Parts: sequence; structure tokens; C-alpha cells
Amino acid sequence: MSEDATLILGDKQYRFPIREGAEGERAIDIQDLRARTGYITLDPGYGNTGSCESAITFIDGEQGILRYRGIPIEQFEQAPNFVEVAWLLIFGHLPSEDEYRVFSHDLTVCANLDESMKHHFEGFPRSAPPMAILSAMINALSCFHPDFFELDDQAQFRMAAAGLISKVRTIAAYAYRHSIGQPYMYPDPALRYVPNFLHMMFSQPYAEHICEPMVRDAINLVLLLHADHEQNCSTSTVRMVGSSQANLFASCAAGVCALWGPLHGGANVAVLEMLDQIHQGQISPEDYVRMAKDKDSKVRLMGFGHRVYKNFDPRAKMLASVAEKLLPTLGVKDPLLDIARKLEEIALEDPYFVERKLYPNVDFYSGIIMRAVGIPTNMFTVMFSIGRLPGWIAHWWEQAQTMGNKIARPRQIYTGPTQTDHVPRDERPDRL
Ligand code: CMC
Repeated sequence: MSEDATLILGDKQYRFPIREGAEGERAIDIQDLRARTGYITLDPGYGNTGSCESAITFIDGEQGILRYRGIPIEQFEQAPNFVEVAWLLIFGHLPSEDEYRVFSHDLTVCANLDESMKHHFEGFPRSAPPMAILSAMINALSCFHPDFFELDDQAQFRMAAAGLISKVRTIAAYAYRHSIGQPYMYPDPALRYVPNFLHMMFSQPYAEHICEPMVRDAINLVLLLHADHEQNCSTSTVRMVGSSQANLFASCAAGVCALWGPLHGGANVAVLEMLDQIHQGQISPEDYVRMAKDKDSKVRLMGFGHRVYKNFDPRAKMLASVAEKLLPTLGVKDPLLDIARKLEEIALEDPYFVERKLYPNVDFYSGIIMRAVGIPTNMFTVMFSIGRLPGWIAHWWEQAQTMGNKIARPRQIYTGPTQTDHVPRDERPDRL
């Protein structure tokens, strides 16, 4: 049965079709609203706006469900493999043995940066935020790979995707090495994706970093849990930039900038700062929660709440359980884990958080895991970017393949002055 929505404006009625997604979510299709009625919709923050149709990731925020290409996120926990998930998101199916071998090979051969890119790192101050370096260097990659500007077929696109996923890890590690004044470690072709990253981060010319299988699995899980989350702020940014037909690198560099903010990927840093502040004795967990409820304080309980989840974020549950297992096995006693547990306990029983359906999100426990394996706090959002990259690439490609793809160009309700005359400078009032 086809259903319509009826809009009544004055004495006129307009019917708009309902579009239904694969999981029963429904939207009123208003693509010709303005043309037919002269009206637009106003939805700051886009909380009610579907910007596209997408077959990549499904979230049911009320039930706490997250699926990549239909596969529940929990099913990746047993054998976490970020490279497989990257392929799944980008190409729509789990890779066969051959596809996995070819893609892993592509990642290996693409891992090096052009030698002259190393000079770019030297130009940044030691204290430069790694997210700024990451974004700048992803953009700089387009200067070295103009062949990836026109991605006409799937084979070309596969190489560009592999190049970006592989090189971003090298850029991230080099940004870190630069910040601590240590030599860059070249990627090792014998190592898989995560061990190779940790090698570039932590090896020394005289001492190879050995990656424990448990650490490898934990980082694979951290990365894959971040790999996509449908139309979040950074992914929407990538799609928006890509809608102007900007190249893949430029679009993903913009995604890094969007992710940087503390309400998005930057929250994992903010969570650690919050936990540390409590640990330093500057404030108790109870007082922090009290402050987070006070609208005048402008403080939020970082790592809590989500635009889509009004239930537990399944990623947070999985990360909490990894943290519980990983830290004791590594012999790490981190007081911040106890503080996180305490904050969670207080918030989940507090009517403010219960009524607003605010639960721990992906950023609440991820930092504790990263810290346990030696990743410094200023690299947390960079790790999020490495993880989110396959999602950005998948969305960029999906959009590029969509017939009739339009440039993204929202409208507005103008609230400024109505027509006003220009005044010569010497007649203008002084407002200083
Ligand atoms: N602490 C205290 N109050 C909160 C929090 C929080 N963490 N999150 C939301 N609220 C309150 C908010 O003040 C508002 O209250 P009221 O209805 O009385 O005005 C209500 O809950 C709804 O919040 P909102 O800001 O309208 O919700 P939103 O969907 O626009 O924001 C959010 C979602 C994630 C930006 C927000 O929950 C937040 O700022 N959380 C802390 C930052 C954070 O952890 N971000 C990571 C998000 S998950 C990973 C990612 O996307 O990168």
C-alpha cells in the first residue's frame, strides 16, 4: 500500500510520497517541496533531515543496534580485522580470500609516502596538533597522486582507497614521531595493518616494537568500531565536499577537520581530560556529574549522549568489556578506568541522564584502551580518523556512483536587515 503525507498550507493541500528504507524507517520525500509550495523546511542540526539514501550502515538508536552492510557490529568482536571491515564497507561484501589477499597487498605497497613529504612534517612545530597535520597531509597527498583525481572505474578507485587507508596510518605515525623528535620509521612490508602502524609509532632504529596479539586485536577492534556511523558530522562533511566533485583526498581531509571538534571525534580526548581532572583531585565524580547537569556551567559529561542513540551505544559496551579484559592482562592498573566506571554508575542512575536517555558513547572507554597500549592522548582523535576513513571513502564513492548526484546546497531563512542603502564612509557612525 503506497502512503502519502499531506501538508496543509492555508487553503491548499499537498501530498508528498513516503519513502521506506530496508529496515522500515520512513521519510517524507520533500524534494519538490519548494518548487510546489514556495516553502522550505527548517531543521538546524539536521536532526530530522535525511540527506541521502545509503546502503552502508544501519543504526537503530532506540534499540542500540549498529550494523555494517547488515552485519551486527557485535559479530566482529571474536576475530576483529579492520582491513576486512574496510573492504566490507567500501565494496559492500566481506572480502573473499583472494580479495583480502589483493587488498592487503595493495595496502602494503602503498604504505610509503613520497620521500619529499617527509619535509612537510619538518615544517610543523613540534607542538602542532596531530589532527592539523593529518588533515594538511591528506590534502598534500593529492599533489603527489594526481592520477587519483579522476576515479573512473572500480580498479582505479580500489587503488586510491587502499592508498589513502594505508598512507593515513603512515602520516599519523610520522606526525607522532615528529612531535616527540624521534626518527621516522618506514613501514615494514612484512607486517599487517595494525602491527605495522604500531611499529611506525613505537619502534626505534635499534629496537623493533613487538606487537602482542592481544594489543593487535584490541586496536583492530577500536578501529573497526569507529569505521562508519552513517551520516555523522564528519561523514556528512565528506559527502558535502565530495558533492562538489572535489577529489577523494580533499573530501577526506575536510572530514578530519570536522571530526576534530570535541562534540564529535575530539570527545575521546575530552573524556581523558575529564577523567584526569577527577583523578588529580580537582573535582569528585559526583560534583562533575552535578556540574554537567547545570546549564550555566557549560560543562558536559564527555563521552555521554548521542544524537542517534537513545539507548546504550553498542560500541561503548564492547569497548568497556575490552578495557576490562585488556588492562589486567597487560598488567596495567589505570585509576582512570575506575573513575570512568564510577561516573557511568552515577550518571545511569541520575534522573537527568535517564530522562534524556544519555548513555556512554564510543568515546567513553576507547581512550582508556588506547592509553593502556601507549598511544598518547593527543593521538586519540587521529586514531578515530584512521578508523573512520573506510566509512568516509565508502560514502564518498557511494555518492559519486549515485545517479543524479546533486551538489549539496542547503537553504536558509534569512534574518538580517531588509534592503538598506550604502552609506559613504565619512557619514557612518563610529561604533568603536
Ligand atoms: N552531558 C550533560 N548533558 C547533556 C549531554 C552530556 N554529555 N549530552 C546531552 N545533554 C543534554 C543537553 O544539555 C540537552 O538538555 P536539555 O534538553 O535540558 O536542553 C539534552 O541532553 C539533549 O542534548 P542535545 O545537545 O540537544 O543533543 P544532541 O543530539 O544535539 O547532541 C551530543 C549529541 C553527542 C553532541 C551531546 O550528547 C554531547 O555534547 N555529548 C558530549 C560530547 C560527546 O561525548 N561527543 C561524542 C559523540 S559520539 C562520537 C561521535 O559522534 O564522534
